[in-house]
Amino acid sequence: MAIFAFFDEVHKRFDGEDVLRGLTLHIRKGEALIILGGSGTGKTVILKHIVGLLSPDKGRVYVNERDITGYDENQLLTVRRKVGFLFQNSALFDSMSVFDNVAYPLREHTRLLESEIEQKVKEKLKLVGLEGTDWMMPDKLSGGMRKRVALARAIILEPEALLYDEPTTGLDPITTRWVNVLMRNLHERLHITSVVVTHNIQSAMSVADRIAFLYRGRIKFVGTPEEIKECGDHIVQEFLKS
Ligand SMILES: Nc1ncnc2c1ncn2[C@@H]1O[C@H](COP(=O)(O)OP(=O)(O)OP(=O)(O)O)[C@@H](O)[C@H]1O
Ligand SMILES: [Mg+2]
Repeated sequence: MAIFAFFDEVHKRFDGEDVLRGLTLHIRKGEALIILGGSGTGKTVILKHIVGLLSPDKGRVYVNERDITGYDENQLLTVRRKVGFLFQNSALFDSMSVFDNVAYPLREHTRLLESEIEQKVKEKLKLVGLEGTDWMMPDKLSGGMRKRVALARAIILEPEALLYDEPTTGLDPITTRWVNVLMRNLHERLHITSVVVTHNIQSAMSVADRIAFLYRGRIKFVGTPEEIKECGDHIVQEFLKS
């Protein structure tokens, strides 16, 4: 089975506190993997290792079978071009329109003509259900719409993998359900690897092919939604009930 990313006994500590403690995890190519874990347990830290925004103190991280652990910024750019990242706070540029936010990576990384950029931006906005919002400013948008703009921007370079950091946090239940459906649809339509970190169990159950449960710096359990429901580990079960 092809592997998109592999964490090989990764350790990471901040200010004397161990966050990842020998974490080992395989992310399969083409799967939707949800990493489930409590607040402050290192979920964002894991995602940042995949694109080299953080690197391990000990252990290795492989992406597409290459060890990226010692990569310099230039080498990391080639990884980052293939991996879309949806940040926890959406991280939109508030002084730019929706169109310009989504077009930004194309303008930074490609030499496409403005007409080609327009076509791609419109296509992605349509994919996330935001047709006709091109000239709106981000501060006029609801949380759910901001999330979708960020999603359109994350897929504009047609990445092979998409990393979502807490995509439903702060959204109301209806918008949350909508975002879950959208993530699953995009996963299937774009044939990509999707990695979602969340503490939202409903998201995990409805989006995942597999769920990995993060606890005390390691993956305590990994399996399908069915398997996690039936797993005998009481810490996992406590979390699922919460
Ligand atoms: N760059 C950093 N410098 C110092 N400490 C950090 C850094 N990044 C993360 N940490 C610490 O590592 C721990 C895990 O952080 P992380 O953001 O990955 O948690 P999380 O699981 O994403 O939590 P949340 O649910 O709040 O998003 C926290 O204690 C955090 O303060
Ligand atoms: Mg986080």
